[in-house]
Amino acid sequence: MEPGIVTQDQKTAGTWVPVVAESRFPESAACSARIGGWHILVVRGDDGFHALNDRCPHQAARLSTGRIRRGAIMCPLHGARFDIATGHCIGGAYKAMRIFPVRVHQGIIEILLPDTPPGMEDLPVTP
Ligand code: FES
Repeated sequence: MEPGIVTQDQKTAGTWVPVVAESRFPESAACSARIGGWHILVVRGDDGFHALNDRCPHQAARLSTGRIRRGAIMCPLHGARFDIATGHCIGGAYKAMRIFPVRVHQGIIEILLPDTPPGMEDLPVTP
């Protein structure tokens, strides 16, 4: 599956899992969580919440410590910027980030996680 694109299969396959109550979402606009082995980054954009795999497609750095501005997150390692809604690399230098469907259900931010654990290609490098 191509990163950055939510396919119809991905919209229906998997399990909706709770991440955090919307009322407790940090004002700083991002929240990271580890669920089922996945490293998830939830970001608040102007148009709602977005969920991304917390792994830069370039050299697997965690993006959760990156700066978020104008709908994009910047990788703290080499500065690539990714659109938080689509996961696409702005400028196109690298592959897109993997994104996950996200919803707010009864006040809880939930993401649709695959039923399979992440592969090595999905995990960030821990410094
Ligand atoms: S690891 Fe993110 S830009 Fe290089």
